[in-house]
Amino acid sequence: MIRGTAFAKVNFGLRVGSRREDGFHRVDGIFQSVGLKDRLSLAAAETDGIQTAAGAQVQEGLDNLAFRAAAAVRERAGSSQPVAVTLDKTIPFASGMGGGSADAAAALAIAARFFGLDDDTVALIAPQLGSDVAFCLRGGTARVAGRGEIVTPLDPLAGFALGIVVPPTEVATPEVFARWDEIETPAGLRISSPDLPPALRPEGELVNDLYPAAVAVVPEIDDWRQEIEARWQRPVMLSGSGPTLFGFFLDLDEAADAVSISPTGARLAEAVELSPHGWTIDD
Ligand code: C5P
Repeated sequence: MIRGTAFAKVNFGLRVGSRREDGFHRVDGIFQSVGLKDRLSLAAAETDGIQTAAGAQVQEGLDNLAFRAAAAVRERAGSSQPVAVTLDKTIPFASGMGGGSADAAAALAIAARFFGLDDDTVALIAPQLGSDVAFCLRGGTARVAGRGEIVTPLDPLAGFALGIVVPPTEVATPEVFARWDEIETPAGLRISSPDLPPALRPEGELVNDLYPAAVAVVPEIDDWRQEIEARWQRPVMLSGSGPTLFGFFLDLDEAADAVSISPTGARLAEAVELSPHGWTIDD
């Protein structure tokens, strides 16, 4: 059995451009892996299956993106060996932190080791599974462009931690992009450079262009952002299509203090460090 860990991501800004011929939007932003984790394992079995570590069925069954990632590696490796995948989730579903993509990237890496597939072939499979999977496979800090498949690694960021709050709602990414198309000139949510940690200031202000569309789909996101900003006394940013909101802090202790005074009723409220990896193999 091979075990691994998948790390969530946040978007330090997401500029959105026109829709491409393939239906996806051009994006540009800095993506960052963070220390919020799912756990996976993969082992040879008599039949294919995907369960939690406690043995419960994973909702989508073999359609789950992590299983599809493992199956894609198996196919490219020319094997027909059935596998049992386990998936234990902490990263909230449909939250803008790329949990499904992170699981898929970790499953690619684990399955590549299991089936003996090379890194270059695995990197070709990643974007076919979802727009964020190529970033999650690379992990750490990167500039991401195209529909998400153009990933340029950047020097690791350091010197700050994040307070993360996931409001009690799920957001469907396609719905937010579709709403973005309908809004004339959407003004993104911004954090100006002086309000950013020093390591991020050279990038200029952070902008998430999807914010107005996310709020149009789920208006409560704006109420949560305003309430958290008032409590934390600093700007709060949306990750991706949301609803995850986050603020910048000096270190994990300061972020944990802030999280302890965040509004009650969130799906998740946690202080997290930046992660240099999108996944790890844990022997
Ligand atoms: O690639 P992924 O399956 O994560 O994308 C989900 C949906 O989000 C797409 O079907 C599309 O509607 C939207 N999307 C987009 N442009 C992107 C990424 C996602 O329009 N760059």
